Amino acid sequence: MSFDSRKAIPTNHEKHPSRIGQMFNRIAPTYDFLNHFLSAGIDVKWRKAAVRGLGIERGNLVLDLACGTGDLGFAALEKEPYCQVIGIDLAFNMLQIARKKAARKGLDTGQYTFFSGDILRLPFHSSIFDRAMVAFGIRNVMDTGRAFKEIYRVLKPHGLLAVLEFTLPRKPLLRDLYLIYFRKLLPFIGGLVSGDPGAYQYLPSSVDSFTPPEVLSLEMQKTGFIIRTTKLYTGGISYLLLGEKKANNASA
Ligand SMILES: C[S@@+](CC[C@H](N)C(=O)[O-])C[C@H]1O[C@@H](n2cnc3c(N)ncnc32)[C@H](O)[C@@H]1O
Repeated sequence: MSFDSRKAIPTNHEKHPSRIGQMFNRIAPTYDFLNHFLSAGIDVKWRKAAVRGLGIERGNLVLDLACGTGDLGFAALEKEPYCQVIGIDLAFNMLQIARKKAARKGLDTGQYTFFSGDILRLPFHSSIFDRAMVAFGIRNVMDTGRAFKEIYRVLKPHGLLAVLEFTLPRKPLLRDLYLIYFRKLLPFIGGLVSGDPGAYQYLPSSVDSFTPPEVLSLEMQKTGFIIRTTKLYTGGISYLLLGEKKANNASA
């Protein structure tokens, strides 16, 4: 178990890339099933909305950060089959599932290519991607400011970044009901199905303790992004931040 559930707040130690990678390696076999089951399939709509927001165009090079089993990249390719997606993730087992899914969908390796790697040290040249996107991944990163700097570096001027992440509903009744589900039922079912209770205790704790969307948006702006869109989904369970890289400091 990588997450000490007695502590409510995941420490940076628990967000260390090797621990996070190991945790997702362990839960990879049941990740997709639990994702769709525990969100009643709404996660699919959130990813589609993020991809729509990015306005991916034919010929675009798109970076799917913390791509996991690849669903955000697949949504991008469904919307714009003539873009090229590069996925990067820490967890080898998640990437293996993504590769199998890509093969089943008949995609060739040039359409969606997967790399093992860390958001904090992207193995790419500067200013090469038209779009970048990260779904439910930024919360797991130890240093979000550094992550945004890296993403900013690899985006072309005017390139867009979509950040899709969980948050908690603000309306009191909805929040109370959701918290019962999120803090009690979800860890129970997730732990039972995945065989890794720690991972599904980490999920609500990491959302609870993560930077609120407004502050994350400020962090993006501090890096140089111009915020183009901020959207809450499904009563405030998740949100989308869309930022654009400025034109005048392309090599930042
Ligand atoms: C909740 S999953 C999201 C996967 C996928 N984006 C999706 O929408 O289903 C989080 C993923 O982030 C990856 N991850 C966490 N920290 C990372 C980092 N620093 N660099 C690269 N990947 C990371 C994990 O390995 C995991 O696959």
